[in-house]
Amino acid sequence: MLTPRVLITEPIDQAAVDYLRTKFEVVVGQRGQWDDESYLASNLGSFDGLLSMLSNPVTEKVLRQNPQLKVVANYAVGYNNIDVKAAQSLGIAVANTPDVLSEATADIALGLLLGVCRRLCESEKDLRNGLFDGWHPQGYLGIELYGKKAGIIGMGRIGKAIARRLYGFGIKIAYHNRNRLNSEIEQQYQAEWYDDTDTLLRECDFLFLSCPLTPETHHLLSRERLGLMKPSAVVINTGRGSLVDEHELAKALHSGHIAGAGMDVFEFEPKIDPLLLSAPNTMLLPHIGSGTTETRRKMGLMAAQAIQAVLDGNPLESIPNLVSIN
Ligand code: DGY
Repeated sequence: MLTPRVLITEPIDQAAVDYLRTKFEVVVGQRGQWDDESYLASNLGSFDGLLSMLSNPVTEKVLRQNPQLKVVANYAVGYNNIDVKAAQSLGIAVANTPDVLSEATADIALGLLLGVCRRLCESEKDLRNGLFDGWHPQGYLGIELYGKKAGIIGMGRIGKAIARRLYGFGIKIAYHNRNRLNSEIEQQYQAEWYDDTDTLLRECDFLFLSCPLTPETHHLLSRERLGLMKPSAVVINTGRGSLVDEHELAKALHSGHIAGAGMDVFEFEPKIDPLLLSAPNTMLLPHIGSGTTETRRKMGLMAAQAIQAVLDGNPLESIPNLVSIN
């Protein structure tokens, strides 16, 4: 029998590559090489397994042209780059990397909040430019975190990890989620559930977006909804760029209708709206939420294990990180 072939579309943590190489023939692509839909569709023919990145459009066309694929494992918890429905209908398993990146991503969310509220980037840049002239009674006055109310939209694993940190900072927590958490978990974070997103937006001082991107959540933070928020509010997005109408957010920041924004994800990555780049009180990071050595290693192994399990013919139910949609 031929050794199954696995494509890892660009270099990742070596542990995952080595893990897969013990059993399969593994090809590691080059960064950017597999980001084009037609290229992906036309060149996957010899592969049984695909370890994909967020930048790889694993569309219906790609999957239909490659029914020999048995498994696609995304090197991410989000899988909005994969047409899961099409994969399911073709019998191709899809996996992701939940849990292992929640703490790292929540750290970045808090980093963004601190960065924006306490003007860390701006003040640090000034210091480096020789503008520090000693302690200033009115220098770089920011927004106090303690006692404020944070709204979290998306109280999954990452949302909860954010909530745990916020609670430690003495911030009140409100959340909206498709399903209300049980009262024990609500109590643990002192979190109040809001059925109505608009009310949450009206009341919160800090808004955290940590829900998946789906057709329903696309532009969840629209122009109208931005208009509901307090002008003193700060938006933090570590979910997906398209949860926010980025151009409208940039306009709201310029006009002072929103006080600040911390973004790790963007609508048209890697392109950033120029109006957002020039907006005041923003901290913009290049999608580094899960970017720690430890987390990326765990993500790689988790994706690799799912590929191995599928190619070995293990029952799909035994694979903990398999994605399925109704
Ligand atoms: C994810 O996992 O979905 C992140 O955006 C990248 O780690």
